[in-house]
Amino acid sequence: MISEFYTPIRTIMTPGPVEAHPSVLRKMATPTIGQFDPYFLKIMDEVKEMIKVPFQTKNKQAFAVDGTSRAGLEAALIGLIEAGDKVLIPCYGRFSYLLAEIAERAKAEVIYLEKDWYEPFQQEEIIEAIQKHQPKIVTLVHGETANGQMQAINKVGKFCREQDIFFVVDFVATYGGIPLAIDDWCVDIAIAGTQKCVSVPSGLSLVTYNDRVEQVLTARYQKELGLSKNIRNDNHITSNYLDLSQLQRYWGEERINHHTEATSMVYGLHEGLRLLINEGIEAVWDRHALNNRAIEAGILAMGLAIYGNPKTKMATVTSIMVPEGINCDAVRAMLLNEFGVEIAGSFGSLAGKVWRIGNMGFSSRKENVLHVLAAFEAVLLFHGANINPGAAVQAALKVYL
Ligand SMILES: Cc1ncc(COP(=O)(O)O)c(C=O)c1O
Repeated sequence: MISEFYTPIRTIMTPGPVEAHPSVLRKMATPTIGQFDPYFLKIMDEVKEMIKVPFQTKNKQAFAVDGTSRAGLEAALIGLIEAGDKVLIPCYGRFSYLLAEIAERAKAEVIYLEKDWYEPFQQEEIIEAIQKHQPKIVTLVHGETANGQMQAINKVGKFCREQDIFFVVDFVATYGGIPLAIDDWCVDIAIAGTQKCVSVPSGLSLVTYNDRVEQVLTARYQKELGLSKNIRNDNHITSNYLDLSQLQRYWGEERINHHTEATSMVYGLHEGLRLLINEGIEAVWDRHALNNRAIEAGILAMGLAIYGNPKTKMATVTSIMVPEGINCDAVRAMLLNEFGVEIAGSFGSLAGKVWRIGNMGFSSRKENVLHVLAAFEAVLLFHGANINPGAAVQAALKVYL
């Protein structure tokens, strides 16, 4: 006999995955129906329209790719990249290097624009590099989860459009938490995920793209052999599973039979997006901004330092410098084990040096913010950190009240 498992109840204040909304979890437990059942097709059609709202786009194409956010990133990049294509990637944190990893594996010639992870680039620096290298594609991360910094992209996007360069942007950590306007910013393909501000478990990626991209995909379309031997294409996309030209035809009117849809995940996504849209996208952005102000106020009142440039800090992630002599992981472990609160460390050069508190989706709630600040203060005091006792929650309360 193997016993059932019972997961503990946690307050998850990491930059993802965050607490799934209870209503999302309930919807995911509703009966399975076939992926071509008219009832499910209606759910899909509504999801397609709802995905567009947090992106603020009028793109015709928007749908989910099965797999976590990197599935969408990979699908987007390999849909455009052909071997030898120049891809320029401004890197200011871990996830920029994920884009580079994907592009390299797709045999692109990757041009790196690198800096330390303290802050993003000035847009002019990126534009200068574009002028110098004349890439076919520019791809970057809008909100860098590893350091909590956000790259301004409006001028880069406009410049790319003028030069007929494709602009592919990772909005995984900003979608649904921070105001986006991807059409105004001339983004050709935008990618997000479910496990952050959409309050859905990890497992789907959200992709939207414009007509320029659709033309490329249409020109590369190859139908799967088992469906037809007649539609072959010498320039087909190298993956079958992550082939946007087929996925578009699965999610679109043609309804070709591609993968077996993860229907329960799509139920969850429908509910996550529905809740967000019913709350009102501006109200959702405001809620994240308010909770971010409270987190920042609490951390600074404690006497801790926030890592990175304050002018380009994301509202959805706060990176906090680990004080001298304090063990980053020991603090996290005590928060989890004694308080049921999860916060994150970071990666690469920031591993062990910063904690990251997320402020995303259903986790972005006043009670979570106050709880994490109170617990964090208690654990830091227990570890002998030199902080101002009692200040954090009071500072946050002042933001709220
Ligand atoms: C900005 C960013 N991009 C990409 C990813 C990769 O997403 P996933 O782990 O869902 O594949 C993450 C994950 O946290 C992220 O924060």
